[in-house]
Amino acid sequence: MNKDWWKKNAENVPSLVTETPGPKSKAMHGNAAKYMKGLSSQVKLFPVCFEEGYGITLTDVDGNKYLDFSSGIYVTSLGHCHPKISEAISYWAKKLMNAHDFTTPVKEKLLEKMADVLPGNLNAIQLYSDGSSAVEAAIRAARAITGKHEFISGFRDFHGKSMAAVSCGQMIRGDVFSYGPTRAPGFYMVPRPDPYRPLWTKNDGTIDTDKYIEFYEQFITESTVGNLAAFVLEPAQGWAGSIFPPDDFFPKLKKLCEKYKMLLFDDEVLAGMGRTGEWLCMNHWDVQPDIVTLGKSFGNGFPVTAMVLKEEHGEALESISASSSYGGNPMACAAALASIEVIEEEQLLDNVRTVGKAIMKRLENMKAAHPIIGDVKGKGFLLGVELVKDKQTKEPFAQAGTLVYQKAFRKGLAWIPAGHILRMSPPLIMDEEHAMKGLDMIEESIAEVEKEFGY
Ligand SMILES: Cc1ncc(COP(=O)(O)O)c(C=O)c1O
Repeated sequence: MNKDWWKKNAENVPSLVTETPGPKSKAMHGNAAKYMKGLSSQVKLFPVCFEEGYGITLTDVDGNKYLDFSSGIYVTSLGHCHPKISEAISYWAKKLMNAHDFTTPVKEKLLEKMADVLPGNLNAIQLYSDGSSAVEAAIRAARAITGKHEFISGFRDFHGKSMAAVSCGQMIRGDVFSYGPTRAPGFYMVPRPDPYRPLWTKNDGTIDTDKYIEFYEQFITESTVGNLAAFVLEPAQGWAGSIFPPDDFFPKLKKLCEKYKMLLFDDEVLAGMGRTGEWLCMNHWDVQPDIVTLGKSFGNGFPVTAMVLKEEHGEALESISASSSYGGNPMACAAALASIEVIEEEQLLDNVRTVGKAIMKRLENMKAAHPIIGDVKGKGFLLGVELVKDKQTKEPFAQAGTLVYQKAFRKGLAWIPAGHILRMSPPLIMDEEHAMKGLDMIEESIAEVEKEFGY
């Protein structure tokens, strides 16, 4: 497969033929919104109606072509309709769509491939069809392995919308989760280190991760009954705005987990499978998690997810059936297997590292040039720009976040808002030229907003 399969289609992106959202988008969305309730802010703030995706572009029903800086929502990471992946899904769609949790030839190959690319001995696997179900399975697994029931997770983490997942996640006031009881018993949250907004600092003003670990120890002693099954964390926070911890955090946390005989459950649904330039985001810190969940990019848009444990914990899964109606069906396995093969064949981890560095350099320059950019953050293609009213006070500038999101979208950039933090997750196939086009649209929009607010 020629790795430039998407380039011809992207030659003229963005290409707009109406105002955006255009008249057909408005009419169709208006009709759909009569029935479809509770849409995300990504849609509410820019109600466009897409009908086609190819590689790094999305085309709406009015014929406007957008540059994709969102991959859906961190999902279509190898490009829309990658020919190899579409072909693999359609082969099994015509041959065998579902066979419960029986082995199929494509499942056998996928499992071997996963064991091959995942670090260490992460090779006890269950397959599911959404991230929340994989997280639920991981919580069940942690209980089965340890015989314990308490879990600690981090402020502003997101792990999905089912009960155990919600119990490890940030509560959002006014959201459905705040209509109590909000959290299952035995689930706790602690602050996690955000280098831009540190709770504890060293004398030189930089974040002090030792203080976080000391606080966790105190928390364990004072707030739990010492029946701790796992620490549950996103390796880098997606929903919260592409927030990465300092490099020394996870190695220290792993030691803490060992001291208290807790498992480290690394939820890589969003950050895993190449998004940060490594198979797992946790590889950046050479830390071996005990439990990993995979989703989103794992099947490049086909609903397939996984929960993976270290080999020595596999036996504990005998008490947790791997059976699920759709998990691991042949189409799903084909999508996941083809996605892993594409990452290898097209050397996309290298691409993400190289282009990611160029993006970060440009973002740093933008930060220096713009008074409302407080921070730029990320690794590889998991990126964020934090907007503030004042660089000294760091007061979040949510109004600017909304406006910049809408303005750049209007120029032809499909991307992701998160209040005052703008999130970017371009497809991993993107080259530097197109990445810079996307950043041009963002920088122009930021400059326009600054002008409107008199900066
Ligand atoms: C880190 C993380 N875990 C779990 C989930 C839940 O995945 P899903 O939406 O497929 O249930 C998400 C979704 O955004 C996520 O970002």
